[in-house]
Amino acid sequence: MLKFLSYCLYCTVISGLCYSPLIMAQDNSSNPTERTITLKLPPKDLAKWYKPANKRQVWLHTMFRLRRELLAMNDYARQNQQAGLEKWSDKFAKDYLSIAQMMPQWEKYLYPEKLKMLTKAVKSRQYTEISAILKKLGKSCRTCHDDYQTVATLLFRTPDFSRETVTVKTSGEELDYDELMALLSDSLNRVNIAIKDKYFNKAVTALTPVKQYLNDLSSTCSHCHKQDNIPVKRIMSEADSLLPELEQYLNKQDQRQAGGKLGEFAVKVCARCHSVHRLTSDLKSVIE
Ligand code: HEC
Ligand code: HEC
Ligand code: HEC
Repeated sequence: MLKFLSYCLYCTVISGLCYSPLIMAQDNSSNPTERTITLKLPPKDLAKWYKPANKRQVWLHTMFRLRRELLAMNDYARQNQQAGLEKWSDKFAKDYLSIAQMMPQWEKYLYPEKLKMLTKAVKSRQYTEISAILKKLGKSCRTCHDDYQTVATLLFRTPDFSRETVTVKTSGEELDYDELMALLSDSLNRVNIAIKDKYFNKAVTALTPVKQYLNDLSSTCSHCHKQDNIPVKRIMSEADSLLPELEQYLNKQDQRQAGGKLGEFAVKVCARCHSVHRLTSDLKSVIE
């Protein structure tokens, strides 16, 4: 059940999809069994600081620097190391203020007066004050992260499968990912049903489309996995060894072992890809 309301999105919590604190789950008093979540979407302008609009992941790298700068300042303050402290607090001030330069809409998350206190404490070598000021500045990080971090990661940094298509070799058809997945799932279930009902020959025949669709699917992985081909190889080599083993058990009419192999295949081939790609793809399609 989805209801879009300006920039906010409400949807029922499906168990396991609740990432706190980004998603604020509340009991709905009129129907206590139905809980509601609210997600804030970042302003569209944030895309300017990510690929492909930008050459680099500018926003993310600013964030990594901020975390490093906080750590360096904390450590140097504890060691009373003035030169290091000055160097990293200058960098920090620049990066912290750049947040509002990149995203003026988010200026309200920044604490410029705390930044002034920090600069003053650094200049006057008040080392013991620094960690308390940094803690307060850290609160401005957390407030914005609670509101936007996970959604921004999903929107700008997770692979987009909605535009991926798969060519089915046997028919020449171009299918969307979810269409191919439906075929793959049905063909796998036909094998499962045949095993359960002890039609072993039928199960062997039903394996052919599973292999074909998986083959069609595997040719799409390289669209993104150009250099990092290892996860794809790992998954596909599982398929290459498990399917012949399954076939052997089917030929031996060993229902228990065949059922076990089929389950192993579903985990090592389907679920291992789903845990990284389907979950994020589904979440992304909900918020886009
Ligand atoms: C890329 C790795 C990958 C592999 C390997 C994979 N899937 Fe998927 N699967 C996805 C993605 C991504 C989606 C979400 C697609 C979408 O919604 O556009 C998905 C969605 C699905 C869906 C839901 C389709 C829908 O209509 O929402 C089913 C069912 C499914 N996969 C079954 C399978 C089965 C069965 C296997 C193993 C034989 C498998 N998948 C292997 C990535 C994969
Ligand atoms: C106005 C909003 C905002 C403020 C303020 C902010 N951040 Fe972020 N930060 C984000 C968003 C949005 C992301 C998600 C970026 C992504 O995943 O691509 C993020 C992600 C991060 C990450 C990446 C985490 C990871 O491993 O993926 C780090 C580290 C980080 N921020 C550090 C900081 C620090 C330290 C501060 C405070 C000094 C800070 N941020 C202030 C919005 C903000
Ligand atoms: C639209 C681009 C895209 C496509 C298509 C794609 N991947 Fe990925 N895949 C990625 C990215 C990017 C990562 C790195 C993790 C992340 O950002 O989610 C990744 C990570 C993975 C991982 C987890 C990393 C690891 O080391 O275990 C697995 C497994 C994986 N992909 C399998 C596949 C398989 C199998 C296919 C084809 C059936 C496929 N992917 C197709 C973009 C894609």
